[in-house]
Amino acid sequence: MGIQGKRTKATFEKAKQVIPHGVNSNFRYWGDDDTLVISRGEGAYIWDEDGTKYIDYRLGFGPVILGHAYPAVVERVREALDMGNVFAWTTPPEVKVAERISRMCNVDKVRLTNTGSEAAFHALRIARAHTGREKFIKFEGQYHGMIDYFMYSTASTGLDDLGPRDHPVSSVTTKGIPKGIQEYVINLPFNDFEMFEETVERGWEDIAAIFIEPILGNCASVMPKPGFLEKTRELCDKYGIVMVFDEVKTGFRIANGGAQEYFGVQADLVTYAKAMGNGFPIAAIAGKEEVMMTIQPGSMAHGGTYSGNVVGAAAADATLEFLETQPVMETINRRGGVLMKGIDEILTEANIPHVVTGVPGMFGILLGSDEEPSEFRDYLSGDGALYEEIGIELIKRGVQPDADGREPWFLCYALSDDDVDETLNVFNDAVEAVKK
Ligand SMILES: Cc1ncc(COP(=O)(O)O)c(C=O)c1O
Repeated sequence: MGIQGKRTKATFEKAKQVIPHGVNSNFRYWGDDDTLVISRGEGAYIWDEDGTKYIDYRLGFGPVILGHAYPAVVERVREALDMGNVFAWTTPPEVKVAERISRMCNVDKVRLTNTGSEAAFHALRIARAHTGREKFIKFEGQYHGMIDYFMYSTASTGLDDLGPRDHPVSSVTTKGIPKGIQEYVINLPFNDFEMFEETVERGWEDIAAIFIEPILGNCASVMPKPGFLEKTRELCDKYGIVMVFDEVKTGFRIANGGAQEYFGVQADLVTYAKAMGNGFPIAAIAGKEEVMMTIQPGSMAHGGTYSGNVVGAAAADATLEFLETQPVMETINRRGGVLMKGIDEILTEANIPHVVTGVPGMFGILLGSDEEPSEFRDYLSGDGALYEEIGIELIKRGVQPDADGREPWFLCYALSDDDVDETLNVFNDAVEAVKK
């Protein structure tokens, strides 16, 4: 598609000399001519090395809930910088963040960590230690980070690799993982009550945890069917399994109390990251007293040099304070609702079969069918190529969602009503350009 300008290309060429493929995360590599280099962000906008401005709907894959370089967060971080960053002791900002999470998310205990992957990994270890069991269930198309245990049948897996629908296999998504790790993970199609119940009933004695992204944040924001999260709760209670909500994408984005509040279902453990620090590296594992207190100095490890570091904690303290005191969710929900409706109308008008799914703060667009998707396989059966074409036309016109339809559109508080109007105009133009 060739979206790199001259200066962007020059910097990217330099990057490739010293950084494999010029990126510090494979997900950011869009090809040698289409990987952008960003020089700054402010509010809802980012600018690339050539000065091209975009309305940003990727928001760093979701973290930026308020806006880029958001003053309320930046100021708190600036103040914190004078304090020093790591002491290998508890600091007051960590205590404030844990208190806020406990209050906002109705959880008893919180441990801070740095990334979503780390949070998910620790949640799995806690669940295993708590139950004395080793296997866990996850759902196809769900991504829980870069840790070996989770890298099976993620959103990067192709339809052919998932196995037959009635006998799904756990398909490894990267080289470099020991074969034996596969034994510990069971992948199931999302929203299939019958297969889920049957699998748990057959194998519960070995199952430590059920990991669930309450909304498929790595697969176009496919929603849980009514009752599916409640069914998970019921099965976990019946068989002594630890229910883990991976709220790395939904936490502090779909409601102040995340998916637990939104769906009214309480998990045993919850992982948070992304929106919690408006883009600063900070994450958390939180949950019920009896499960969290499985962590024990000397026998059940959780740790990390940078866990709860002052800068990350200050960013989270400022972000969560802002969420608690300002109408962030209402505003995002209202503007996102207008965007979802407008996109739906444009696609209907253009006679393109589609579904706009998810929630206003993180929604997905599936093309190729009018049927509400309920699992990753539904997404894979759709028209991802058409979506990508429209995505590229949007980006060329200064509106930047991910060109890959699996990644939802994320909204931030700084996005204005005018930005929404402009986005819809551009969306209309992009669809027309593709139809031609
Ligand atoms: C649901 C979910 N869990 C875990 C992770 C991993 O988080 P991180 O990239 O911070 O390690 C991600 C990342 O996108 C995610 O979407």
